[in-house]
Amino acid sequence: MTSFIHGLPKAELHLHIEGTLEPELRFKLAGRNDIALPYRDIDEMRAGYVFHDLSSFLPVYYDAMSVLVKPQDFYDLAWSYLERAASENIRYAEIFFDPQAHTSRGVEFHSVISGLRGALFDARRLLGIRAQLILCILRDHSAEYAMATLLESLPYRDSIIGIGLDSDERDNPPTKFAAVFARAKSEGYRLTMHCDVDQLDIVDHIRQCLSVIGVERIDHGMNVLESDELVAEAATRGIGFTVCPVSNRYVTGDLKDTELKLMLERGLKVTVNSDDPAYFAAYLTANLESLASSASLTKAELVQLERNAFEIAWLSTGAKEELLAELAHYAAGNP
Ligand code: ADE
Ligand code: ZN
Repeated sequence: MTSFIHGLPKAELHLHIEGTLEPELRFKLAGRNDIALPYRDIDEMRAGYVFHDLSSFLPVYYDAMSVLVKPQDFYDLAWSYLERAASENIRYAEIFFDPQAHTSRGVEFHSVISGLRGALFDARRLLGIRAQLILCILRDHSAEYAMATLLESLPYRDSIIGIGLDSDERDNPPTKFAAVFARAKSEGYRLTMHCDVDQLDIVDHIRQCLSVIGVERIDHGMNVLESDELVAEAATRGIGFTVCPVSNRYVTGDLKDTELKLMLERGLKVTVNSDDPAYFAAYLTANLESLASSASLTKAELVQLERNAFEIAWLSTGAKEELLAELAHYAAGNP
């Protein structure tokens, strides 16, 4: 199974680029930018990465970003991830970035986007991996700041495929950003939102995503299983679910493998992703391996998960068909 998963052509649709900041790169960028860190070495830094749920994870995640300042820093961050992704046979990645986590501390939007898109461009040429960017709005900031960020993104519209919503979900429902997402849609952006696992009012948040915001995908979203009506609606509309098993284990204590299997059985377009792999110690291959072993997934189920991912990807029909054909060829050759 390990070699089958390694060779499987894969897509990653739920990956926060800031969540790929490995301690080694964090140290290197701190040195380059003359930023003092409160750790003597990498082991001490890793030992400081202590969290048990979403609200204890987020401060650690935001704090680490202080070393990202110049376009080259964002380039190096994305390039490191894309090299790693290519080595895992990830054929396509949709990558979240959190501009407000940078503009709120004085880093210009242009510095963030120019570094990231440069790395994506080079990766297509040099590593043969396709990737696109999704701008994530931080839901624990105001709707006004979200709108200002959306407007700031417009000159870079061609470099950003969609708009997402992340960060602390408590008391920050999708409807808080209804006007921002309506404007994003009118600008031609694709829409997705986090509905993190087991959060307060989560089923209501999933309902708002479907009936008020009109998202095409939900990031996490596993609590949809608590409502037969929402499962039916999501299945009929082909809503994509970007699930992150190892992240689930970190923030809820459970891989949620039983639930993922149930989502597959109920005909939902569920996919497997890595979320914040530098913090949750598992990139995409390791997520698929953990899940395959604890849920006893068959090769056919693993292929189905990747087929779902290519189908819900925000790619042109031609690119999708190319990747789906590659997947079908691999499945046929590795029964
Ligand atoms: N930002 C980075 N990772 C996140 C997650 N898993 N949930 C919400 N916001 C995030
Ligand atoms: Zn996420």
